[in-house]
Amino acid sequence: MSAADKESQLPSPPPYHGHSRQRSQFRKVSSVIYNTLSQPRAYITLLILTFTAGYLSHSQVVQPLLSEDIGDLAEHNTFPTRCADPVASSATRQTLLDHVHGGVSPWDGFPPPQVRPLLWTDWNKGWDSSADVFEHLIEQVRPRVIIEVGTFLGASATHMARLTRRMGLQTLIVCIDDFRGWPGYYDQEKSAKMLNGDSMLLFQFMYNVQKANATDSILFLPFSTNTALGGLCDWGVYGDLIEVDAAHDFHSAWMDINNAYKILRPGGVLFGHDYAWDGVRRAVHSFARLNSLRVKLDGKHWVLY
Ligand SMILES: C[S@@+](CC[C@H](N)C(=O)[O-])C[C@H]1O[C@@H](n2cnc3c(N)ncnc32)[C@H](O)[C@@H]1O
Repeated sequence: MSAADKESQLPSPPPYHGHSRQRSQFRKVSSVIYNTLSQPRAYITLLILTFTAGYLSHSQVVQPLLSEDIGDLAEHNTFPTRCADPVASSATRQTLLDHVHGGVSPWDGFPPPQVRPLLWTDWNKGWDSSADVFEHLIEQVRPRVIIEVGTFLGASATHMARLTRRMGLQTLIVCIDDFRGWPGYYDQEKSAKMLNGDSMLLFQFMYNVQKANATDSILFLPFSTNTALGGLCDWGVYGDLIEVDAAHDFHSAWMDINNAYKILRPGGVLFGHDYAWDGVRRAVHSFARLNSLRVKLDGKHWVLY
């Protein structure tokens, strides 16, 4: 079929009463489009272009992980504020023994014979563990229950046990620690010995408490701070005095402070160590601002009022 024949088969242009040169241009363009589309290769090219354009425009549509709802974002800063109704302070020890230690003292039969050779007789290292802040706050609050978030070898816990005994208080000190220290922890001088990949930190802490004659006044929850504080909240265990001294990065400190505040008895005091650490300081001030509290310093400790 000649080009002239093809052109004669083209549809007639719409009625047009304008310039005759424009009419002939329309015929030429129509002819080019018709010739092009009549080639199979052109159809395939057109198909590929259409598919590629569709794919590119689709791949730029990113589905948001969170909805646009501001409630999703607020969730990151929201910690449930209600815990179970409080158990009596005098029932706290038994409540924890029942929930965590099968109803018996974990010091019964301690230390097991295979562990004894792995314990140091004199290793109770801490950091500002006998600082004045402990005496100041115990004098002020006269607590029935103290909760310590981050205990390590029990240096500050045994110090608080000595103080409360000296003041004639009947105080239970609840120590929360996973008793792992932190990855890579190694003390040049002494360190927790290992048994088949497990650190002896828990047993060394227990030994130190036993040595301080404090097994009746100190109890421990050997879990992550998050799960242990969640457990206390669920069981209605509240503290009159709570010290936060676990991990010092912002997110850990932020989570510990928020979780601890939920189980602070009305009139109680929340405080913590290592105000000089950037992550701790930022968490403390953010929390104080959001809850209209003031931050006071006592040595290297921060105290919320
Ligand atoms: C600085 S030490 C505590 C020192 C102790 N308050 C004293 O003055 O003797 C920090 C402790 O927090 C514990 N720790 C850190 N992050 C934790 C977490 N997420 N859960 C449980 N324990 C944690 C470590 O195992 C370590 O024993």
